[in-house]
Amino acid sequence: MHRERYGAEPRVFAAPGRVNLIGEHTDYAEGFVMPAAIDFATLAGISPRTDGKIAIWAENYGEERVFEAGALPEERSGHWSDYPVGVLRMLEEDGHRIPPLSLTLWGDVPLGSGLSSSAAVEVATALAAADLVGAQYDGPGLARLCQRAENRFVGSSCGIMDQFVSVNAREGCALLLDCRDLSYRLAPIPADVALVIANTMVRHAVTGGEYTSRRAEVEEAAAVIGRHRPEVKFLRDATVEDLERWGGEMSPNALKRARHVITENTRTVAAAEALIQKDLHELGRLIAEAHWSYSRDFEASCEEADAMVELAQGLPGLIGARLTGGGFGGCTVNLVEAQQAEAFRASLGESYRLRTGIEAQIHICHASAGAHRVE
Ligand code: GLA
Repeated sequence: MHRERYGAEPRVFAAPGRVNLIGEHTDYAEGFVMPAAIDFATLAGISPRTDGKIAIWAENYGEERVFEAGALPEERSGHWSDYPVGVLRMLEEDGHRIPPLSLTLWGDVPLGSGLSSSAAVEVATALAAADLVGAQYDGPGLARLCQRAENRFVGSSCGIMDQFVSVNAREGCALLLDCRDLSYRLAPIPADVALVIANTMVRHAVTGGEYTSRRAEVEEAAAVIGRHRPEVKFLRDATVEDLERWGGEMSPNALKRARHVITENTRTVAAAEALIQKDLHELGRLIAEAHWSYSRDFEASCEEADAMVELAQGLPGLIGARLTGGGFGGCTVNLVEAQQAEAFRASLGESYRLRTGIEAQIHICHASAGAHRVE
């Protein structure tokens, strides 16, 4: 499509979406997360131009945006093009001149479903544009560039998890990522465990107000604890005992949100250990606990996602199920014994339809590699 449209052979890059196994709303508290990349991705094709323009074509929307190189928009437009334009602008801020270019984007990461379609677009664009301008970024650096595009240009206050795993994921593995220093450990997912991702079909948006207000409550809790223990700047460093002592000085919501984040951090580290030790029973227990903490204390679930998790609970082969991603809709992640995955998918779809009247999309995925050039 790029060749036909722009008359030039593109260099093509792929960046995956992700599913988070555990560790929700902990990344911006400098805590732990454990995502894996999935086999849905964005492809970015790029080639230079000679007419002074930057053209970006989104195959999924059948839409093109054209700008003068050197005069990229300074403000977001609320349009899909904010993601690639934001990335180009951050490259410019890092001192790279963006030459005239044609960029084609195509993706199959389901939109608004909590599987990080936006991070996939950012990372694919960043790899393609960095290659064209000869910019060198290491894995964490490229992820930070994309997060900055989203924070500063697109205007969403997301953490680093999605961009990081899209860049740095490893085939067959989840990553236990320490969002403080971006160090990570690989946690291999056993070959006989399937990742079944069930879309509730309730749309989720990180730019929506709920994500931002939850983040503000988490930061309020950290500030209250920090008044007593100045070394605590982020909930990563806080404990359940801190909440027992000073929780009364917080708003009731901040207290609940903090309880989720603090216990979630502990669960995430324990879940990585369980996965590495292949203790699937313990892993499943932690994942289930994480869901109800996310639902009751963080109040980031919805009726449909709670139903999807409850319905999975009774099915043969389930190891653990929870709502994944930023919350308020989107997908549940189900770790299922691989041999049972097909039957699990069929029964879950059926019982969800009976309960809610909604036809869910359910995918059997596998943990895939991070972003790369496609030959
Ligand atoms: C979204 C954000 C991430 C993270 C999750 C919640 O996916 O982009 O940075 O905060 O929500 O865990």
